[in-house]
Amino acid sequence: MANPFFPGKPVAPEHFVSRTSEINFACDQISNRSHCAIWGGPGMGKTSFLRKLASEQTLQEHGIDTSKAVIVLLNCQNIIPFTPAGFWREALTLLCDQLDSEPQLQAEIKPSLERTVTNDSLRQAIRRLGRKGKFLLLLVDDFDVALVSNDQYTEAEMGTFLAQCRSLAVHAEEAQYLSMIVTSLEPLSKPGPPLNPKASPWYNHYLFQSLKLFTTGELVQVLNIIRPPTLRGEIINITGGHPTLVQTAGFLLWGQIQPGNTPDIKTFARDFERDTQHIFQTIWTRCNPTEQALLMLIALLDVDGHIADKKFNLNGIGRILSQHRRWLGELEDRGVIISSSTETGKFYSFTLSLIKKWVTEEILNTSDNLIRDREKEFLNLISHGQMKQVGGFISWVKNNPDTVQTLLDWISKVLPFFPK
Ligand SMILES: Nc1ncnc2c1ncn2[C@@H]1O[C@H](COP(=O)(O)OP(=O)(O)OP(=O)(O)O)[C@@H](O)[C@H]1O
Ligand SMILES: [Mg+2]
Repeated sequence: MANPFFPGKPVAPEHFVSRTSEINFACDQISNRSHCAIWGGPGMGKTSFLRKLASEQTLQEHGIDTSKAVIVLLNCQNIIPFTPAGFWREALTLLCDQLDSEPQLQAEIKPSLERTVTNDSLRQAIRRLGRKGKFLLLLVDDFDVALVSNDQYTEAEMGTFLAQCRSLAVHAEEAQYLSMIVTSLEPLSKPGPPLNPKASPWYNHYLFQSLKLFTTGELVQVLNIIRPPTLRGEIINITGGHPTLVQTAGFLLWGQIQPGNTPDIKTFARDFERDTQHIFQTIWTRCNPTEQALLMLIALLDVDGHIADKKFNLNGIGRILSQHRRWLGELEDRGVIISSSTETGKFYSFTLSLIKKWVTEEILNTSDNLIRDREKEFLNLISHGQMKQVGGFISWVKNNPDTVQTLLDWISKVLPFFPK
């Protein structure tokens, strides 16, 4: 049997697991010819989600008449460098490609590709679809790219482009024949050009929906083939429900248990960490410096909570940190940390033990002057006195790397259940 896991690439609709309420939500918007913005962190399943929506079977299952839908799936990362002209051309080209079974419509629309393609060209094409009782389902992946200026795309052009998208989706007569679904790493309200206080925000017509970590039920579905259940349970623990991590762990484990192979947990662990590094790197670099300092403090509090040496009691810092609700809330929304309420207040920890490992190793690997280099950010979060206390603890951490590594060890937890 072929390996049933798909690491590093979007999953095909027939292997797409769960996300039922999110798919229902998106299909409701498509039925109403409305628009939605799906957001989720790196590797959270955005592209797979759009591919699932692009499948006729999914649409039919939700009562959408696919004979009326012209489905275009485009990725903004394929438009290099991103420009509005490139975007409109790509959308119109793909639309034409989808009309092979409608040669007359195709022949009417195709000549526009020989001229300069603009938002108006797409509007006219949608009008033609509407006249034939059809509508355009425009699925746009990695829309973040359209929210960053480049050499050929100024901030003013960005403002115009986003207003054109809004106009097409809301104000134009053709809006009734269009449903646009975009994906991005963050909610659209975060990046993008400054808002014009006299107009509705450019993203106001999108209904937002986030893709979160898989729930335990969803994980059991994805990892169903992994036996015994105790091993599956440990894989669920180490991947924390992150789709990319789940697929990567499943894929590597499948390779390990093939006949003729002697399972080796060290190889599994090495390959797993190697193949998932980029996820943590992206999560880390997408955090602003204050969020990074906050994550470091959460990691230090975690280490402090596990060591017997009570000389560095950082409890007070934990209480202060929980007051920074805005930053903590952002990190929680992005699925990086999770909060739990205790008698003494809210307590924050990492969603994935591997994010904790990454952040702690970041502390171990950075210069001895970590506190001084990040002074401004730490002072946003804690007092001068507390910073001294943290500085002392960082020195301890750096002088005791073995103890710290033992705390971060996840391999020994999996070992008892690993195939022999
Ligand atoms: N619903 C799902 N069922 C099973 N596997 C999934 C599902 N969604 C995503 N995956 C798996 O998760 C991984 C990431 O998926 P995908 O590439 O769609 O994410 P993404 O958010 O688009 O990533 P990126 O941020 O890199 O663009 C892939 O290995 C994919 O197979
Ligand atoms: Mg993607």
